[in-house]
Amino acid sequence: MFSAQTYQQRRAQLKSKLDSGILLFLGNEESPMNYPANVYPFRQDSTFLYYWGIDLPNLAAVIDLDEGREILFGDEFSVDDIVWMGPQPAIKELAEQVSVQDTQPADRLFSYLRKALESGRKVHFLPPYRHHNILKLGNLLGIQPDFIKDYASVPFIKAVVAQRSLKSEEEIDEIEKALDITYEIHIEAMRRVRPGLYEREVAGILQGIAMSRGGSLSFPLIFSIHGEILHNPHQLNKMEKGQLVVNDCGGEAPSRYAGDITRTLPVSGKFTEEQKAVYQIVLQAQTTAIEMIKPGIKYRDIHLHAAATIALGLKELGLMRGNVDDMVEAGAHALFFPHGLGHMMGLDVHDMEDLGEDYVGYDETVERSKQFGLAYLRLAKALQPGFVLTVEPGIYFIPQLIDQWKQKSLFTEFINYDKVEQYRNFGGIRIEDDVLVTDNGHRILGKLIPKQIDGIEAIMQS
Ligand code: GLY
Ligand code: MN
Repeated sequence: MFSAQTYQQRRAQLKSKLDSGILLFLGNEESPMNYPANVYPFRQDSTFLYYWGIDLPNLAAVIDLDEGREILFGDEFSVDDIVWMGPQPAIKELAEQVSVQDTQPADRLFSYLRKALESGRKVHFLPPYRHHNILKLGNLLGIQPDFIKDYASVPFIKAVVAQRSLKSEEEIDEIEKALDITYEIHIEAMRRVRPGLYEREVAGILQGIAMSRGGSLSFPLIFSIHGEILHNPHQLNKMEKGQLVVNDCGGEAPSRYAGDITRTLPVSGKFTEEQKAVYQIVLQAQTTAIEMIKPGIKYRDIHLHAAATIALGLKELGLMRGNVDDMVEAGAHALFFPHGLGHMMGLDVHDMEDLGEDYVGYDETVERSKQFGLAYLRLAKALQPGFVLTVEPGIYFIPQLIDQWKQKSLFTEFINYDKVEQYRNFGGIRIEDDVLVTDNGHRILGKLIPKQIDGIEAIMQS
């Protein structure tokens, strides 16, 4: 938790950007796994954490812009609760830690908002994503739950996105803490991976590192020899000599700030010549993309540059042919690089994605493309100092996608399908780092995790 002043200043800044009405912040509740008392690990809503700091369930807060009031709604724990959960802080104490004077019982929220609505005042809320909050808002506003997102307040969303996008020094420190955990996880993976082990045997240890450092993971671990499955959540395969394993993972600091790094490792500890050739293309795309990062440049342009680097490399390997600019404009490279170059990162690994990807990554100067591949680009707009983003190009051989494109004879002028067949079981390679946009350039965050071939091989064989 930051100082009370930090939260007070954040709320003051938000208030200065909006005119009138009531800003509603719904915290998250516990979420049952299989019966009400058996719950998933609690994760607070990130916007709630950003403005109100308290990482506990069953809280809500409002800022009344017209009356200048800030109220935290929550219930004191009963002795029965304490018998099961141990001593708990009082709401007043929690409120003081974030410089809030006014606290009220949780059940007052509904009547407070009802009264405001009845007197014709506007209640601004953010798009809810947890079902309990969708239902809560639906009941309050008399709107069908399926449509509730359509009533979220655009000015509120835009103000929060503008503010949370610019990371302060103390937020960068927290991201670096998440990256310290991430560093340890990656180095341990390099030491552990070897033929004959099951993915889960290594994955379990990696997950344990995050827990043992007082944090957790910022998203479900992606650790797979099937790196071509972009968000592969399974770890059931035995790792064999000659295969690659994609390790895409991020520590989450106790403060809930995220890290998100990917490294791709040869299971045997040594890349084959074929793997090296593809790896170097991805590495070249990643390092040149990072070099381009500075204020003012559109991330879409950096994405397209990375796509061109990949297309050129694949052309040199004989997998693609023709003019590189034409390939990229047509979207032919997306057979191998079907996702975006990166996303914003902060309290969420895909920062503020709950508020709407287009509000976070796009603006009036850049419209989201409908082209396969480019359509998945989460961040496209011009970069500003204070943005933290990921740079994560990849090359993948996705058998089902290859078959589909080949069957439809897509981009036969650019893609050498005969050659592609030779790589059918190659898997995938992704390399990812987290980067801060500075006043005149950029800084790669976290301790350097080897990504050069010899650096990775040296650790794997040590
Ligand atoms: N690291 C997973 C993702 O960025 O989607
Ligand atoms: Mn990522």
